[in-house]
Amino acid sequence: MRGKCVLCLVAVVVLACGVQWVRAQEDEFDIQSSIYEHRMPLVHFNHLAHMDDYGYDCTECHHVYQGGENVWSDPDSDPVTCEECHNEPTTKNEKRLPLPKQKLNLKLAFHNNCIGCHRSYNHENNAQAAPITCQGCHTEKP
Ligand code: HEC
Ligand code: HEC
Ligand code: HEC
Ligand code: HEC
Repeated sequence: MRGKCVLCLVAVVVLACGVQWVRAQEDEFDIQSSIYEHRMPLVHFNHLAHMDDYGYDCTECHHVYQGGENVWSDPDSDPVTCEECHNEPTTKNEKRLPLPKQKLNLKLAFHNNCIGCHRSYNHENNAQAAPITCQGCHTEKP
């Protein structure tokens, strides 16, 4: 009996910590990268909705590649901001950069990730719920 109670207590503490950890992050925020000057209104991103309401795994967006595998697992130790790796700052004619630079380009990393998924989601669901126009994402006037 005693043993069971201790186990329960441990479970409650672990659960509480888990919830705390999730709460410690912002549920939604404006994405504001520091490596370039913003010419567009900022993009408001509902992080929590993409996980809880739309049901995506962390690794749809977060990654660390090792031998071709995405091994991203721990938001406390693995990088979460895209610019930690995608640090090529060009925001004009970035598709004319040589391919290796394009892969490190920050604007393309965001656009390919966000718009790429939105396009295929709308296509597969014959829907328009996921924004693909500039004004659909760049909404936050300074
Ligand atoms: C699905 C959402 C989405 C759509 C649609 C989208 N963007 Fe973006 N865009 C982003 C995100 C996210 C960033 C990175 C945000 C940041 O750094 O603030 C970004 C960054 C940019 C940047 C570089 C940062 C800046 O403010 O100058 C430019 C330029 C840009 N987008 C232009 C456009 C244009 C033009 C269109 C329409 C043809 C467009 N975007 C459509 C999400 C989107
Ligand atoms: C649909 C894409 C997407 C999904 C799914 C996603 N994230 Fe994120 N996350 C982002 C983007 C974009 C940022 C901002 C990156 C930047 O500013 O460079 C971010 C930022 C973060 C941050 C730093 C900001 C903060 O709120 O503290 C953490 C931590 C994080 N994500 C953890 C997670 C975890 C854990 C999961 C899964 C449970 C997850 N993310 C799922 C796209 C996503
Ligand atoms: C730890 C470093 C790292 C971080 C952090 C990182 N990436 Fe990447 N990303 C890479 C590498 C490496 C590739 C693979 C490039 C290749 O194919 O050779 C890649 C590929 C991509 C691709 C596919 C290539 C392309 O340009 O279409 C997209 C999209 C992308 N990342 C978006 C993001 C977004 C969005 C974030 C932040 C939520 C992010 N990345 C964070 C390293 C990183
Ligand atoms: C893996 C797929 C996926 C990725 C990656 C993704 N989204 Fe979405 N997003 C969706 C879907 C699906 C919806 C619409 C869901 C619905 O309303 O039914 C959506 C809706 C939205 C909306 C409108 C509703 C809301 O939640 O505010 C915005 C704005 C948005 N996404 C921004 C972004 C930005 C910015 C990024 C990149 C940082 C991004 N999304 C990455 C799947 C994705």
